[in-house]
Amino acid sequence: MNNMGKQVPIPLYYLIKSHLMEIIESGHLKPGDRVPSERELTAQFSVSRMTARQALAELENQGLLMRVQGKGTFVATPKIEQPLAGLTSFTEDMRRRGLNPGARVLSAVEAAAGRRVAQALGVTEATPVFRLERLRLAGGEPMAVETSHIPVNIAPGLKDQAFADQSLYKLLQEHYGIQLVRATQSLEAVPANSAEADVLNVHEGTPLLLLERVSRDTQDRPIEFVRSLYRGDRYRFTTELVRREESQ
Ligand code: GLP
Repeated sequence: MNNMGKQVPIPLYYLIKSHLMEIIESGHLKPGDRVPSERELTAQFSVSRMTARQALAELENQGLLMRVQGKGTFVATPKIEQPLAGLTSFTEDMRRRGLNPGARVLSAVEAAAGRRVAQALGVTEATPVFRLERLRLAGGEPMAVETSHIPVNIAPGLKDQAFADQSLYKLLQEHYGIQLVRATQSLEAVPANSAEADVLNVHEGTPLLLLERVSRDTQDRPIEFVRSLYRGDRYRFTTELVRREESQ
């Protein structure tokens, strides 16, 4: 359909959303400041409660606002900017920002790789693999759920290690002499299911960023296959692009 020349109405919730975005981005409202409630917006813009709610919900999903039960809606702290280029660990990423890294171990087991993991690590499906599922925390706040898979024969005994306060990459390097040097990674958006929403402390359906990474060592052996689910409302991934001769 051709809309040229026709006036396309702008949805009301969108106008409210843009208004709120403007006062946040211009610095009139700062992180931690309270934003007008659903009721206040309803009165101010003469819209229905549903419309006001939609505007607030979208901004919350985008990570600009934060709702605190019984207290109101506030401007959220800015997202964590994470460059995609470096092969860094969660611990290193958090420390670089002056945040205290932490983890809660959700499960740590040895089991047969299975199809998907076997394919990623270049092993057979029956190969024993250590599977570590951790909730990653920054200053006590949940940021991501990471599920790492490492062939048992590459780093035997990992399942007996305490990962609540220990970096996996550091352990691989210092205890097993494994140096990770390169990785391939993909990134896609997924909605949080109820279990993920629960541990990450977000609403079900909140956008999460799924990163899948296969990391290799100096001999080009696949060492770790990881699925990381980062909170889309707390993270923004950045990357640097270079325009090469041949693309011009
Ligand atoms: C990042 C990577 C994971 C890796 C983790 C190690 O988050 N995406 O693949 O397992 O770092 O972190 P740490 O060394 O803090 O345990």
